[in-house]
Amino acid sequence: ILGYNRQRIPGNWKLMQENIKDPYHPGLLHTWFVTFGLWRADNKAALKMDAQHRHAAMISTRGNAGKQSDVSQVSSFKSSMELEDKRFLDIVHEDWWGEPTAVMTTIFPSVIFQQQVNSVSTRHIQPDGHGNFDFVWTHFGFADDTPEMTARRLRQANLFGPAGFVSADDGEAIELSQCGFTQKTDHRALALLGGRGVEETDHMVTETLIRGMYEYWRKVMETKT
Ligand SMILES: [Fe+2]
Repeated sequence: ILGYNRQRIPGNWKLMQENIKDPYHPGLLHTWFVTFGLWRADNKAALKMDAQHRHAAMISTRGNAGKQSDVSQVSSFKSSMELEDKRFLDIVHEDWWGEPTAVMTTIFPSVIFQQQVNSVSTRHIQPDGHGNFDFVWTHFGFADDTPEMTARRLRQANLFGPAGFVSADDGEAIELSQCGFTQKTDHRALALLGGRGVEETDHMVTETLIRGMYEYWRKVMETKT
């Protein structure tokens, strides 16, 4: 274990599972991801689920997407933008990955296992009532890592974590969503870009993982009442 982070997010805990089953937002919200090619909607990708659709994996492989002309919808993508401190993008391929460079695994109801290039972490959702949760990150390495690899894993974990360039965006988006829900509790909204079905896909243009989770959620909650 390399270290921990903890953040409190003022939103319903299910929004965090939705977040990590939603392949649209990384390319729209996390401009950092898009600019540096770590996650783009047109990366080679796969969405997988267990047989009951509770658990899921968003699997993405960096560096095989098209150039800016192919993703003109994403205005934040600037192929010429560079970092002053290149250590943030000091990514070393490891044999155990296989091909994918990011695998985000949601285990229903409250755990996330993630590999984001060289960083390996779990995140645990700890609800505090229906409108708040603590989000506890644990960052890992391998026992035989070199000191350079440990530093690399920590740097990348910090980059993706609550004080970095990625997860702070998610916490704010969840808070804003929760504020929206509580304004008019009798109102309903429905987004159906990818239809109503639940199925595995070889692309990221679908909300299938979120529908799968709520399909299971309704089944469990109905049996309990
Ligand atoms: Fe996110």
